[in-house]
Amino acid sequence: MSKELEPLADPGLPEHIHRKADTDPIAAKRAERQVAVLFSLSAFGTLLFIYSYFFIKEDQFIFIPIMGSTNAQQLGIGMGMAMSLLFIGFGAVHWAKTLMPDQEVIAYRHEMRSDDSDRGEFVKAAKEGAEIAGLGRRPLIKRSLAAAAGLAGLPAILLLRDLGPLPGNALNETNWKTGTRLVTDPGDRPIKASDLEVGGVAQVMPALPTGKKRTLEDIAKDAVLLIRLRPAEFQLDPERLSWTHEGIIAFSKICSHMGCAVALYEQTTKHLLCPCHQSTFDVTRAAKVIFGPAARPLPQLAITVDADGYLIAKQPFTEAVGPSFWERKS
Ligand code: FES
Repeated sequence: MSKELEPLADPGLPEHIHRKADTDPIAAKRAERQVAVLFSLSAFGTLLFIYSYFFIKEDQFIFIPIMGSTNAQQLGIGMGMAMSLLFIGFGAVHWAKTLMPDQEVIAYRHEMRSDDSDRGEFVKAAKEGAEIAGLGRRPLIKRSLAAAAGLAGLPAILLLRDLGPLPGNALNETNWKTGTRLVTDPGDRPIKASDLEVGGVAQVMPALPTGKKRTLEDIAKDAVLLIRLRPAEFQLDPERLSWTHEGIIAFSKICSHMGCAVALYEQTTKHLLCPCHQSTFDVTRAAKVIFGPAARPLPQLAITVDADGYLIAKQPFTEAVGPSFWERKS
């Protein structure tokens, strides 16, 4: 004969044990100081980050026994950032575990959106909670937390600086000046019109003053394509025609869409093609855009020859080279 099982008694919640800081004011004070120390260490970490970023030289090394020779700035930045984030987290956890209200509550499941009265209750309870948490009564925590939280956002702002300088007027200023010789790239050799056959293309750079080295930034802005056609093939207005020399026309090689190098020349159609998004420019019509996303022609460089017969720039570019997506003066 089977015996009916008796239902289990509801065990309920285990007895609530109060934390030391709940009953002992001295323990509460000690916990408060510990939290403040953790937040202060976070603030110190942020200051270390800032100091390392601005005041330690990039090429300064120090010897650390287990790490060997170490870049001091990188070490300071890394340690500062780690301390800043780690200790603000430790402080918050320690504060919650030792001093925040320690009441057990039962949370029933509700619809996803509470009704307005519950929402009002929540706001009220949150305010009361803040009151009970005693922020007003614990100025030490309040101030150290404010310092740590206030400083914690600074590293992110400082790191934005490493994205580099704002472009400003950079694309309006190239090394092409009146009388600058066109030189081969690579090779830096001045060229004459006779060096380029009809149908030929060449990439050239401006000759730089003696002693000046060509930087990557120079190359990104100064690259020019020379293309030689028969003069009769051009469909240019008289001014643009006067910017050519014996059928040689010069355009910035930097695509006016997003700055890729316009590298493909179709000899039969006389089109220049940008490989990035297929913008196509008509060489015979001053690099007018005939297809693709570019919004303006490639800037044309006015060229002529000097007394020795070498190709030179007649004047600087009359408009900014490169992409059109930021404000330009011309
Ligand atoms: S960069 Fe040349 S078409 Fe987009």
